[in-house]
Amino acid sequence: MGKFDPDELPYYNARKVRKVAIVTGGNSGIGWYTVLHLYMHGFVVYVAGRNSTRVNKAIKQIKREARRRRRVKEGKRAATEADSKISASVSSTGPVFGELHYLPMDLTDLKSVEKGCKRFKSLEPRLDVLVNNAGVMALPYLVTADGFDVQLQTNYVAHFLLTMRLLPCIKRCSGRVVSVSSIGHNLEFRYFSLNRTFNYKPDMIFTWMRYAIAKTASIQFTKLLAIKNPDILCMAVHPGLVMNTNLFSYWTRLPIVGIFFWLVFHLIGVFFGVSNEQGAHSTLKCALSLDLEPEMDNGRYFTTHGVESKASYVASNLNDAASTWIWTMHELRDRGFDV
Ligand SMILES: NC(=O)c1ccc[n+]([C@@H]2O[C@H](COP(=O)([O-])OP(=O)(O)OC[C@H]3O[C@@H](n4cnc5c(N)ncnc54)[C@H](OP(=O)(O)O)[C@@H]3O)[C@@H](O)[C@H]2O)c1
Repeated sequence: MGKFDPDELPYYNARKVRKVAIVTGGNSGIGWYTVLHLYMHGFVVYVAGRNSTRVNKAIKQIKREARRRRRVKEGKRAATEADSKISASVSSTGPVFGELHYLPMDLTDLKSVEKGCKRFKSLEPRLDVLVNNAGVMALPYLVTADGFDVQLQTNYVAHFLLTMRLLPCIKRCSGRVVSVSSIGHNLEFRYFSLNRTFNYKPDMIFTWMRYAIAKTASIQFTKLLAIKNPDILCMAVHPGLVMNTNLFSYWTRLPIVGIFFWLVFHLIGVFFGVSNEQGAHSTLKCALSLDLEPEMDNGRYFTTHGVESKASYVASNLNDAASTWIWTMHELRDRGFDV
């Protein structure tokens, strides 16, 4: 068990209050559990994803899992009616789940991000929680149709555009933005301009630098967003080492050497890893905890199980963050996306 219990976070009665969240990449891994808990806590959750079959399948599974957990809790309550502690926790949970909806969005296509935002805005006036969770890791160098490296666009640029487009909805309800970064951001040992593509050989080494730069940029973005918007709460997280997700599948599916990578990742998971569900703890704390407030916690960085931590020197340097922000604004404007 982890040191953090999502049950201690506030539950909302979906019949009385409409709390709305978007989770990108909510159909698998850490995002799946993030959606499950937000839904169980009474949120209307839009699962932003690129594949309708995968997302709709995940939505069905999440609903089933939520019902199963409720039955288990109710069963426990009935069996131990005398135990006031359990009774209290179940009654505070409340019986009302939120709603789950699919929001089509492919982060490697910025027009699709804009379309997703328009669709969301036509449905909801407010956004209480935006979780920028979707990501890819250590893929071969590949330029998207928008002209960015696939890791930079998926992990950072698309989420920048998404957040800026939805900012009015977030500000309307003093909402929260949670950016899922990674401990891997520390590999960027000094600041590099985002013009540097690091498309060098051996790719097996330099792909990690591209991942680190994208994840550093996401922390820098979060910190500046917090400074520019003190009325909302913006935080970045490292979820922990969660070796059982699809994030590693490019490596484990490689012919012949894939088995070696599978073994390495598996061993890391055994000794240092946390479960997929525990991987969602930091995000859930940032999304829901009433102990976090804009005045005290804006721009902070949390690690495994929601423990506060320090981002790297590069990610914390505000001058570098400003350079990253300006670079992104220009790049988006050059492509017709005014932010
Ligand atoms: N696992 C770890 O140890 C670890 C450690 C540090 C940080 N993280 C970060 O945690 C986040 C979640 O990762 P995970 O481990 O849960 O991996 P995962 O299971 O592979 O989940 C990634 C999610 O992102 C989605 N996604 C990828 N590219 C997309 C695109 N172009 N458009 C829309 N959605 C896209 C995936 O959708 P599809 O199903 O369609 O591919 C999937 O739902 C990532 O940002 C990752 O960098 C993970």
